Amino acid sequence: MKQLVSLGIDLGTSELKAILLSAEGEVLAQAGARVEVSRRQSGWSEQNPADWWQACLSALGQLRATNPQAWARVGCMGLSGQMHGAVMLDAAEQVLYPAILWDDSRAVLQASQLNQDFPDYAEVTGSLAMAGLTAPKLLWMQQHEPQLFARIASVLSPKDYLRLLLTGEQVSDMSDAAGTLWLDVAKREWYAPMLHATGLTVEHMPRSLEADQLSARLSAEAADALGLPLDLPLAAGGGDNPVSAVGIGAVNAGDAFVTLGTSAAIVAITDHPAGNPASAVHSFCHALPQRWYTMGAMLAGASCLRWVTRLLGQPSEQALLDLVHAQWPVDQPVAVSSPLFLPYLAGERTPHNDPLLRGGFMNLGHDSTPAMLGYAVLEGVGFGLLDAMNATLSAGATVNACALVGGGARSEYWAQLLANILDREVYTLHGSELSACIGAAKLGLLSIGEGAELLGQGMAVKARYQPMPAVQDVLSARYGKFKGLLGAAQGLRA
Ligand code: XUL
Repeated sequence: MKQLVSLGIDLGTSELKAILLSAEGEVLAQAGARVEVSRRQSGWSEQNPADWWQACLSALGQLRATNPQAWARVGCMGLSGQMHGAVMLDAAEQVLYPAILWDDSRAVLQASQLNQDFPDYAEVTGSLAMAGLTAPKLLWMQQHEPQLFARIASVLSPKDYLRLLLTGEQVSDMSDAAGTLWLDVAKREWYAPMLHATGLTVEHMPRSLEADQLSARLSAEAADALGLPLDLPLAAGGGDNPVSAVGIGAVNAGDAFVTLGTSAAIVAITDHPAGNPASAVHSFCHALPQRWYTMGAMLAGASCLRWVTRLLGQPSEQALLDLVHAQWPVDQPVAVSSPLFLPYLAGERTPHNDPLLRGGFMNLGHDSTPAMLGYAVLEGVGFGLLDAMNATLSAGATVNACALVGGGARSEYWAQLLANILDREVYTLHGSELSACIGAAKLGLLSIGEGAELLGQGMAVKARYQPMPAVQDVLSARYGKFKGLLGAAQGLRA
C-alpha cells in the first residue's frame, strides 16, 4: 500500500510555506514563496489575494518538482493562515478590494465605536473590538467605501480565500472565524448581533467547521494546475497561532507557548473560553473541538530586533546579539539605570488595545552603547510579553512552562532572558519554524480519520532555559520602571 503523505500549507504575512508530512509525522520536504505587503497609507497593511495564489502555485510547484515520489503519495491536505484579514468578494466571488491585514490600523475609530455602542459583545466574541480584527474593518468599509461595501456578498479570511481557489467552496473554521469577532466563541457559531453591528448578516459568512473536519475537495481545475488528485480532501484548517499549537503538540489545557515572529504572542490552551476583555486578551476557539485558547498578543515582536539592528547599522541580528552578550552576559544583572525600550513600534493589542501607541528608548546617556540599546530592545519585548502573560493569567488561563517558537527562538540569549522575565521555564524545539505547516498537515490527516496519534506528539526539545534567581531583583525593578513609562507614551500618541 502506498504510504500516505499530507500536504500542509501556511499562508503567512511575508511567506507562504508548504510541507509534505508523512503519516508518521516526519517532514519529508518543504518549500516557500515570498508575498509582499503594500502600505499605501500610514497605518495601512494590505495584500493582493491573487499574489497568495501565485505564491501557492510556486511553493507547491517546488515541492512537486523536487519530491515527485512523495508528491504522488499526497492523500490529504490542510491549511493554516494569517488571521484577522478581510477578503471581500462580490456575488461572482471576485475580489472587491485589497485584503486588509491583521496589522492594519485604519479601523481604530470603528473599533472604539463598536466597544462603546455594544459593550457586552466582547464577552460573547472573546475580545474587545480592535482595529486589527476583521469586524471593525468592515465598518470602516461601510463608512469609507459605501459603494463597494454594498456589493460585498461574502467576507473570507486569507486561508479561506485560498481554499476557494483550491476547491471552489466558501468554508471557514472556528479558530479563524473567532478571529473575525463575528463568532460566539462559547457556542462556536456566528453571532448575528455583531454581524448586524457592522452592516452584515450571517448570509455573508462562509459555512464554518471545526479545523479537523473535512471541508471540501480539490477542484478539477486546481488538481490539474497542481498535479494532485481530483477530489483530494482538504481539512478546514485554522488560524496560524492555533494551528501552530497543533503543530507543536499544545493541545491540552495548561499547555502554553510564546511565539516571537514579526508579531509576538503568549498563547495558553484552555478547556473553556477564558477571556477578560478589560485586559484586552483574546479568548478564541482552538483548532480542535472543545478547546479554546487565551492569547495576549503584541503587534511587534522579533521585528523590533530587526529594526534596531538596521538602525544601529549592525551587519546582522547575530552581530548585535554578540555585542549584547559581550557587554551583559545573560546570567548577570544589568545596571538598573541602563536604557529602557517600549516595544510599541506598531502600537499594541494586549493589554493596551491601542494601535496608535508608539515605542521609544528612555534613559539614554552619552555612555549608551549599541549593546545597551540592543539589550533594551530584547528586554522591552520581554516586558511586553510579561504584560501579555499577566493579562492572560488574569483571564484565568494557566501558563506553565512555555515553548518558544518563531524566528526569535533562534537566539539562545533571548530565550534565557525570556525565562528570567516570565519567571518560567522556556524551551525551544527542533523544527518549530514549520509548526504552522506541520499543524495544517496534521489537521489534513485528522480530516480523513488518520493521524490521531500524532496529536499529542510534540517536537523534540532543543534546549531548556530555567529562570535565574541572580537577575530577578534587577529585572523586577526595571519592569516597574518600564510600566511607569506608559503614561508618557500615551501622552505622545497621535
Ligand atoms: C494573531 C495575529 C497574528 C496573525 C499573523 O492574533 O494577529 O499572529 O495571525 O500571523
